Amino acid sequence: MRKAVITCVDPFHKREKRFDRNLRPYADRVTKIRDFSLPALIRLRQAGAEFDLVYIDGCHERESVLMDSVLAWGMLNFGGMLIWDDYTDYKDDKANWERPTSAVDGFLVAYAQEFQEISRTKQLIVKKTADTPRCPVRGKIGSRRLRTLVQSIQGWL
Ligand SMILES: C[S@@+](CC[C@H](N)C(=O)[O-])C[C@H]1O[C@@H](n2cnc3c(N)ncnc32)[C@H](O)[C@@H]1O
Repeated sequence: MRKAVITCVDPFHKREKRFDRNLRPYADRVTKIRDFSLPALIRLRQAGAEFDLVYIDGCHERESVLMDSVLAWGMLNFGGMLIWDDYTDYKDDKANWERPTSAVDGFLVAYAQEFQEISRTKQLIVKKTADTPRCPVRGKIGSRRLRTLVQSIQGWL
């Protein structure tokens, strides 16, 4: 019988030991990427990664949730599920940009033809029902050349 494998992305500034302890029994089926989601997801896309299930529960700010969603969607297999945690009821006293809700809503509008909604509570679950062309992700991430370019741009400002 085929057993599931999992890829987890987190900078692990906290709770890394607990993560390792919890997943030790499954260590041979876990790929742990110690990084922020944006560079990690771009690298995964460049590597041609595919997933049957995506769970988004990292940085909860609108910009990050939107980028995570778009990048992950391109790696989700047809028929796969995407789950957003904290779609609602997340720090309601905070500003819009600090919460996931508007990012998820924006994604749902943009990709409306490509999913079936499965469940909507504090978590939102959708199933991918269409495979549309993916944008190729090119270029090196984290390269010295890119860092030098950014530093020189910052120098002009
Ligand atoms: C609410 S915790 C959820 C962790 C895990 N999903 C769980 O349920 O145990 C949010 C996690 O997101 C991670 N995180 C914060 N910003 C991130 C980012 N930009 N990219 C990836 N992970 C991030 C944090 O380190 C933290 O472990």
